[in-house]
Amino acid sequence: MGSLSLSAISKSFGVVDVLKGVDLDVAAGEFVVFVGPSGCGKSTLLRVIAGLDEQTSGDLRIDGLLMNSVPPAKRGIAMVFQSYALYPHLTVARNMGLALSQEGIAAADIKRRVETASALLRLDALLDRRPAELSGGQRQRVAIGRAIVRQPSLFLFDEPLSNLDAALRAGTRIEIAKLHRQLGATMVYVTHDQVEAMTLADKIVVLRGGIVEQVGRPLELYARPANLFVAGFIGSPTMNFIGGDSAARLRAATIGVRPEHLLVAPESAGAGAWIGAVSHAERLGADTMLYVDVPEVDVLGAGMLTARILGDIDYAVGDRVGLTPQAGKVYRFDDDGNSIAA
Ligand SMILES: Nc1ncnc2c1ncn2[C@@H]1O[C@H](COP(=O)(O)OP(=O)(O)O)[C@@H](O)[C@H]1O
Ligand SMILES: [Mg+2]
Repeated sequence: MGSLSLSAISKSFGVVDVLKGVDLDVAAGEFVVFVGPSGCGKSTLLRVIAGLDEQTSGDLRIDGLLMNSVPPAKRGIAMVFQSYALYPHLTVARNMGLALSQEGIAAADIKRRVETASALLRLDALLDRRPAELSGGQRQRVAIGRAIVRQPSLFLFDEPLSNLDAALRAGTRIEIAKLHRQLGATMVYVTHDQVEAMTLADKIVVLRGGIVEQVGRPLELYARPANLFVAGFIGSPTMNFIGGDSAARLRAATIGVRPEHLLVAPESAGAGAWIGAVSHAERLGADTMLYVDVPEVDVLGAGMLTARILGDIDYAVGDRVGLTPQAGKVYRFDDDGNSIAA
């Protein structure tokens, strides 16, 4: 239950075309994450799936049934937003059960469902509190609980963790992953957070300007990006892109190397495809980001190469180093920015 199929979904607001023919199949029980730059249409696509916005054209099916003009409440969907939108004067239990009582569901049934959801979300001890007496993370769990009690076959999340600080985000992310395993429901999740996308998704959908750039498993996108955009969007720090002679020698318009695939050695060692001077180092403990000025290399964007090295390093600003891509880890792109097969 909860499979989803989008066929040529377009959405325009007046003269602005926001979604431009989105095709997507989501299997029942799958966890799909939409990523893409701000304004690319992620929320709009989610709202179309929920029925809060109607597509301008195209077909939307849930469990094979055409949903084009089915109202939101009849789609078997629950949505969790970035803002929790809890009622401040109601307890946690009442917030979670409110939609159910409005639907006329029996009080005993509501109580049972709220208890089940609050056990899943470890909210049992907080059922009598009001939102003001909860932390941000607890409030977001109540918002998720409110979705769970409706027993949807399809959950939609729109950047649900954006308002939480980094530590809470990490914890809640793990809870959402567990929840998905326990409920087995289909989840469609919007985020601009790389780590959330890579760790939660069975399948990532990369959107740009209302168009699907690539769909694939997280490590598939990392290993085999279809084009420059996906290559630059997936992976952090971002891939180094190089044009000019370095690319031409490999019969490409642009080549790409991820920071973790650049080997660094002192220039005196005599090795190194590209030679330059260390311009900055960021020491994070577990690893170090080394930024290297390579004046003779046509580095696109930043103008510097970024190398990620495990652990600490001895290099200081100004040191001369040679950088070499690991064998088999150079991506090649053509004039149109599309990947050239290895
Ligand atoms: N109700 C609306 N009316 C007009 N334009 C809208 C409306 N909703 C969204 N848009 C526009 O659609 C584009 C995509 O928005 P959105 O789906 O919110 O992007 P994202 O969630 O990827 O950041 C933006 O340019 C936004 O201004
Ligand atoms: Mg959005």
